[in-house]
Parts: sequence; C-alpha cells; structure tokens
Amino acid sequence: MKEHIAALHKKHYERNPEWFYFAPGRVNLIGEHIDHSGGTVLPMAIQHGIYAAVSPRIDQSFRVFSEEFPKEGVQTITLDALDYQDDVGFLNYVKGVMTTFGREGCRLDRGLDITIASDLPAGAGLSSSAAFTLLVAYLLDDVHRFQLGSRKLIRMARYVENVYLRLNTGIMDQYIIANAKAGHALKIDTKLAEHEAIPFNEDALTLILMNTNKKRTLLDSNYNKRVRKLKEAEWHFERYRPIEKLCDLDVDTFKALRDTFKNQSQLKLVEHVIFENDRAKKAAKALKEEDYAMLGMFMDQSHDSLRYLYEVSVDELDFLVEQNRSLGALGARLTGAGFGGSMIALYEKAKVPNNFDRLRTDYERLFNRELDIRTVHPVAGVHRLEGAF
Ligand code: GLA
Repeated sequence: MKEHIAALHKKHYERNPEWFYFAPGRVNLIGEHIDHSGGTVLPMAIQHGIYAAVSPRIDQSFRVFSEEFPKEGVQTITLDALDYQDDVGFLNYVKGVMTTFGREGCRLDRGLDITIASDLPAGAGLSSSAAFTLLVAYLLDDVHRFQLGSRKLIRMARYVENVYLRLNTGIMDQYIIANAKAGHALKIDTKLAEHEAIPFNEDALTLILMNTNKKRTLLDSNYNKRVRKLKEAEWHFERYRPIEKLCDLDVDTFKALRDTFKNQSQLKLVEHVIFENDRAKKAAKALKEEDYAMLGMFMDQSHDSLRYLYEVSVDELDFLVEQNRSLGALGARLTGAGFGGSMIALYEKAKVPNNFDRLRTDYERLFNRELDIRTVHPVAGVHRLEGAF
C-alpha cells in the first residue's frame, strides 16, 4: 500500500508524502444497537482500513484527493468555507472535522496536501465513515502537534456524525477505532466511555467476515427513528427508577416494569436493548475465560434478537448466518448497523471449512450479488505509520 499511495500522492501533488496514517475499520463481536443507550459492546478493529499520505504546503489551504472518488479530483478546502454542502460528498466529512478543531480553539495553520486510499469497503457495516473522520482528525492533530488525546478526538469525530451529518449514532465506532489494541477486542462501557482489552486468541479462534455487498447508508436505515423511540422509552422508565440511560435497567428490573409500557412495537426495541446489553457483558466474560462455545451461543442469540426484535436484518444476512451455523460456526451474526452490510462467523480455528465455494455459489445465485469473504484479525487503532506497510 505504501508505494501505491505514495505514487498517487506524487501524481496529484508533484511531491513525495512526508507522513502516512492508517485508521482501521471494525467488526463488533456483540453488543449491537445499544451504544446510544449506554450499553456494553465488544468490537475489535480489523486489518482493513483507510490510509492517508500527507505533505505540508507553504500556504494555509488543504487539498484532498481520495482514490475512491477519482471523478471529484483534487479538492481544495479553506478555513473560511467549512459549511456542509449537499453536493460535495466525502469532503463534508473533512470539513466537519476541520470545524471541530475550531471549536476546540485549535487553529489549523499548516496547510496540507492529503491523499486517501482505502481497502475498507464503504457501506459494508465496517465503520468506514468513523474510520475516515478519525483518520482526518488524528492526522490534523498530529501534524499540528496539538496533542488533543483520544477522548477529544473521539468527541470531535462523533460531533461530525451527530451534528454535521445528523446521525444519532453512539460512541462505539469512534471509540474502537481510536483505542483498539492489536490482538484484542475491547469491552467498552459506552456510558462511562471506559474499556477493558480482552485477548482474542487467534491460536484457537478464526473470525470470518462476509460482506453481502448490499449497501446501506444509515440515513435511509431508520437508525435515528429507532434511537428516538428508545429515548421515549427511557423517559417512561425514568418515572419508575432513577436511570440515566436505558441500559441502566437490568434484565430483572425491566421484567418487573415491562407491563407499565403499553406500546408493543416500541417494547420490542427496548427488549432487544436490555437483553443485548446483558448478553454482551456475559459474552465478554466468556471471551475472557476462553469459553468459546458460550461466546458463540450469545452471538447467535444476538443475531436472532436483531432479526426479530430490533428488525434490522435482511434476507442476505439471515441466509449467511444460517449457512455458517450449519457449517459448524460457534456463532454467527450480523455486525454493525444491519440493513445490509456484513456478518461475522466465529469458528474454532481447527474447524474452519476448507472453502466456502458452495455457500458462495448459492448466495450469488439466490441474491444476484457477489459475496466477499475474508478472515479478519484484531489490529491497533488509528496511528501514524512508520517503515513499510
Ligand atoms: C452504527 C453506529 C454505531 C452503532 C452500530 C450498531 O455502526 O455508528 O454507533 O450503533 O451502528 O451497533
């Protein structure tokens, strides 16, 4: 990748890059659609992600070229024109991030030429947008030596999603991309924004990722609508117990209060959240204690809950989940927001099928889409790259 992105940079800016950065994508082992409600999640960063090559300029403007959007060419951004614009696509993310530096009182006075390249598919439920915003935030911070630290960078990247792009997403994606540790998954308490790193033992386990190639965007995925309904439920339960977030209700308390809430379709969402939070905590314990059968069981339950209660699965995901289960996976589930995107299957390393040819052929015949299959590994969070990569 280094030669590739360096050559792209030279082609567009006629000079060699001085710095390289990488932000990984992520998969979530369990704890889905609960990070906006203060739940516990268990994601890990993966080896696929977004790269940036950067060189300084003598003026104070910023130029950005992304290999994924070649038609847009090299775009120029200046500090006096950072407003959201409907027609500028990925540049909104860059402008959004730059805005947040202003809000932190940091002046971006070192102009930069930036080239972006990626091996992380967008719209695949692997957090490409959070990877991109954190990558930009991290590199701007690093080049200017502001040393804002990961808490602030997470907050800034979230601000772009929540305010600039109007998505009420939780903290999970930014948090894992900022803090991931190689060889580990992070058990994140999204209410306290704290984590514990738990080894993901690749001598015993293999994690297979399958991308349905059914693209989704969170904007058209009713993500916000569900979050709003959960908020209403939170207000309701607050009248009975002193909670700050819906996930402050444990399973028993929820069962005791369930009948006070009359809207049955809304209650299904709440039920998913409460039980998923409980499962995620137990699954993290199982991972830590190397009880992989137990971990797999919770992953299966998680998918079924997302399918029948939270209702964010699609036929493609259900098919792949079922197929992997019958091929001997310890557990299989959709990962990320759902509505398309990707699923993961956890296998004992010694029991990974020799190939997935049959599954692939069936999938492509049934759904008329290509299926991407890869093994993913837990890697470190966003960082500057030194040496070869
Ligand atoms: C998206 C959001 C996250 C989280 C997941 C679902 O990735 O960005 O905050 O809610 O969906 O778990």
